[in-house]
Formats: sequence, structure tokens, C-alpha cells
Amino acid sequence: HSGKYLVTGGAGYVGSVVAAHLLEAGHSVVVLDDLSTGFRDAVPEGAEFVEGRVQDAARVLDSSYDGVLHFAAHSQVGESVQDPGKYWNNNVGGSIELLSAMRESGVRRLVFSSTAATYGEPESTPIHEDASEAPTNPYGASKLAVDHMISGECRAHGLAAVSLRYFNVAGAYGRYGERHDPESHLIPIVLQVAQGRREAVSVFGDDYPTPDGTCVRDYIHVADLAEAHLLAMAAMHGERGDPGAGEVPAGTHLICNLGNGNGFSVREVVETVRKVTGHPVPETAAPRREGDPAQLVASAERAVSRLGWRPTRTDLAEIVQTAWDFARSRTSREEQAAAAEGALSGGER
Ligand code: UFG
Repeated sequence: HSGKYLVTGGAGYVGSVVAAHLLEAGHSVVVLDDLSTGFRDAVPEGAEFVEGRVQDAARVLDSSYDGVLHFAAHSQVGESVQDPGKYWNNNVGGSIELLSAMRESGVRRLVFSSTAATYGEPESTPIHEDASEAPTNPYGASKLAVDHMISGECRAHGLAAVSLRYFNVAGAYGRYGERHDPESHLIPIVLQVAQGRREAVSVFGDDYPTPDGTCVRDYIHVADLAEAHLLAMAAMHGERGDPGAGEVPAGTHLICNLGNGNGFSVREVVETVRKVTGHPVPETAAPRREGDPAQLVASAERAVSRLGWRPTRTDLAEIVQTAWDFARSRTSREEQAAAAEGALSGGER
């Protein structure tokens, strides 16, 4: 059945892709985003847009909503180490207000954007949900704190919730993709090098205990990730997407990892970008980045068995191809806008 959903952070990377998937599935969507790191033009057409902070969710929520998908958060590991207060304040503070607004308006279903950073340095690989939770930075700690708050809310007040712990989200879904400023993630950085917008990619460490010495990560396509959110919401409504998938009743907090179960090294990513783009990508050796575990690979068995999820875009070249198409279309749009502006200011002179 079609529902009405609040998507906090729907002007950001993952939030916009999930909002687009909800609309395509026939749901109605209200996006709440303060545009601090999101973009107004990333909000899908067909979604209602409210500019505001999660802290103000009470202004938007009422009993007509079937659920909330909560993405709005700061998400830069390095920044969280430099400015931890910003992360506690926004990520935890915003979620406190959101949970209270949900309780007061009687909206009883939540999908939360959690992260593999809640586990910290893994003891074994692949990582299962019962692995110990020992985040190594305030970003991961703030997300883990929200997971704990959600568990309490489910037990005390009968909320149904699914926390999805993302590994390395990558790729684009049509016109929705990754735009950070400055860019901080590996794949978009390597694509900028391929485009000639950056001279070289710095490889952070080549003496890790991995097959080629560079860090291994589990890259999951953003559209596969989005599908898991719709399945999670359906499971809370008791609509099984897949025979055998369990349901998530009121009072339950289900936590699921989302990754594609395959690890790729930094070198493999760079090599794949060379193949996909046909451009040379110079690399330079750089010291290890603080806090980087050697290897982060998910076991997503629980998402498969409980939600009926099946990632379908697990080939790294395919993931990189979608990100490349997105990067090129953004660049040509930026160039057109700059040319139009140039023509305009030229005319005024
Ligand atoms: N890397 C480079 N050079 C770069 C950028 C990245 O070598 O210029 C390396 C990193 O050291 C790391 C890998 O590429 O080994 C991937 O780095 P990203 O910054 O793209 O992603 P992370 O694995 O650091 O972080 C991701 C999410 C976080 C989340 C974390 C979970 O972006 O939000 O996984 O641990 F917290």
C-alpha cells in the first residue's frame, strides 16, 4: 500500500536516492533538510520540501505520516574528531527531538541511517551485527548513541525501528549522486583525478596487512542501499517483500548491516576507475590516515534473511560507471552555468 513518509536529510546523497525510490514506489514524501550539507536541487521532484532542522520535526510531523526515514546528520569522520561537539549536538540532539516528535504525533515506524563506524576496528571479518561496538571517532559514537536511544524508545513506547549500518556507499542513481565539498571520499576523488580536476590521488598507506597493502572496503551501490530502506519500512508494516523475510513488529529494533560482502582495495578502486574512464590516474603514496582500519567488510546475511534484501549492483566497475556518469553530467551542468554567467556579465560590460 502507498504511504506518506518524512525523509530527514532528503537533500543529501543517500536521502535523495531513497526519496526518489519512495516516490517511484508510489509513496508521498516530505523532505526536511536544513541544506547545511545538502542541495535544494537534489530533492526529487514530486517531494514536498520543508527547509528546517531535524530539531524542528515537531512542526512537520502529525498522525497522517506512516513513518520516518532519518538521514539528517553530520557524517565526516575527520571533522568529528576535530569538532566533536558539533556531532553530539546535531546527530544526537536532532534525534532526541525527532523521537519525541514521533512519540507525540503517534508516528510509530522509523528507519535510521546508521553506520559501520559504530563497530570501530573489527576483531574479525566479515563483520556481523553481534560484533563488539567500539567506535573510534565521535561520528561513529554519535550514531551508536542514537541506536541505543532508539532501542529504548522501542522497548518503552512500542516504536518499530530498523537501523541500517552502511559500509562504503558508492555510485549514483541517475541524477542523484555524491556531492561533498570539499570531496572526501575515495571514489569521487579518484574520478576528479580522471577528469583532470585534481592532479593525483593520494593512497593513504600501502603497508596494511591486506593482499596489496592498501585498505579494503565494502562498496555498496546507493540504489541497492535505497531498496533496503523500502524493504525495512515494508517489514514494519508487515508487508513481506520476499517469502521468508521476517517482519518487524511494534516494540522491535532491528539492526542490519548493509554491504555487498565483497572487499575492494584502494588500488583496485583506482585501477577500476582507469578502466571505466579510459583516463590515466596518477597516484602518490601518502602516510596512513589516522583511524583507518585495514579492512571493513560486511556480513549482510541478516538484511537478506530478515528483510528479503538482495544487492544486485555488486560489480565494482558497474558501481564506478554510475558515479562516473554522474560526475560528468554534473561537470557539464556546472560548465554550462559558468558559461551562461560569463555571457551575462560580458553583456553587462
Ligand atoms: N583513501 C585514500 N585516498 C583518499 C581518500 C581515501 O587512500 O584520497 C582511502 C582511505 O584511507 C580508505 C578508503 O580509501 O582506506 C576509503 O575511504 P573513504 O574516505 O572513501 O571511506 P571510509 O572507509 O573512510 O569511510 C566510510 C564512510 C564513513 C563511515 C566509514 C565506516 O564514508 O561515513 O566508512 O567506517 F564512517
